[in-house]
Amino acid sequence: MFGREARGRSPAYESLAASVAGDEQVLSFLAALPSAKRQPNLLFAAARYLLGAPPDIAALRTLVRRSGTELAQLMLARRTQTNEPARCATLLPALARLPGPLALIEVGASAGLTLLFDRYSYDYGDHHLIAGSDADAPTLRCAVGGPVPLPAGVPPIAWRAGLDLHPLDVTRDDDVRWLSCLVWPGESDREDRLAAAVASARRDPPPVYRGDLLTDLPALAAQAPTEATLVIFHSAVLAYVAPADRERFAQTVRGLTAVWLSNEAPGVVPGLPCTRFREGTFVLGHGGRTPLAFTDGHGTWLHWLEGRAG
Ligand SMILES: C[S@@+](CC[C@H](N)C(=O)[O-])C[C@H]1O[C@@H](n2cnc3c(N)ncnc32)[C@H](O)[C@@H]1O
Repeated sequence: MFGREARGRSPAYESLAASVAGDEQVLSFLAALPSAKRQPNLLFAAARYLLGAPPDIAALRTLVRRSGTELAQLMLARRTQTNEPARCATLLPALARLPGPLALIEVGASAGLTLLFDRYSYDYGDHHLIAGSDADAPTLRCAVGGPVPLPAGVPPIAWRAGLDLHPLDVTRDDDVRWLSCLVWPGESDREDRLAAAVASARRDPPPVYRGDLLTDLPALAAQAPTEATLVIFHSAVLAYVAPADRERFAQTVRGLTAVWLSNEAPGVVPGLPCTRFREGTFVLGHGGRTPLAFTDGHGTWLHWLEGRAG
């Protein structure tokens, strides 16, 4: 499964995953961890963190043998919290259709890099460029298809806040190093983008509060300025939430006076229909009911669906 995901994206991790699948020593190390922690992504990121470089199978075996306790402790303490700023490019057309100014709440915000819509510049191809407020923040390149309502700019953002079970802090070097270890070898464009986004976030860090999207969202929503359009959004989050709890979350969001935007793998947003999709594709949804677009899980393309242009 992981090897399939890594195919075409990271030959190094594709081959490492294949080697691990036949390696008794690494497999028995993994088997001793709680089942939720037996993730290749988590193992490889933790090994990279300790080794200072992406592991190959020999380095991983040595690490397991010599520093298995340290590796296990790191895997127990950390989790996969990839924060991909490029997802802003796939969410922006949906945001820009709303009446501004906006108040943004991102649930599952990780380090808050996907809250900084207005900092980034955007390149949607065919000379459709949008300049961000921070010239040193990354330019997010996103190929578009379908009748996408490309925005002229980023709507004014009056207020923003993130909520996360385990927020990462962009001002802490260990958290930033962890974030960079979650990027797979071979994805140098993502590494560069992450570094530039972190540098921008460090100049003026976004607020990300510790809390659970199942219980702490209404209190945070109550802090948003009432004169702004409140948008509650999330990307790559609900897959980490148990199916029954996704339904609870959906009911909570529907009970708030807010626009709900989701950017998640097909099938994880309760009530959001998705009849056709490709592996690795997300569905951009509005209100938990209307699919707007198919999007690349890492934000590099989006395909707007017919009839959703208005
Ligand atoms: C893969 S990251 C996605 C980060 C960001 N949304 C993005 O698109 O780059 C998923 C995040 O969801 C958070 N998360 C998972 N379950 C949560 C919950 N019940 N409440 C709040 N945050 C949660 C995790 O801690 C993690 O930081």
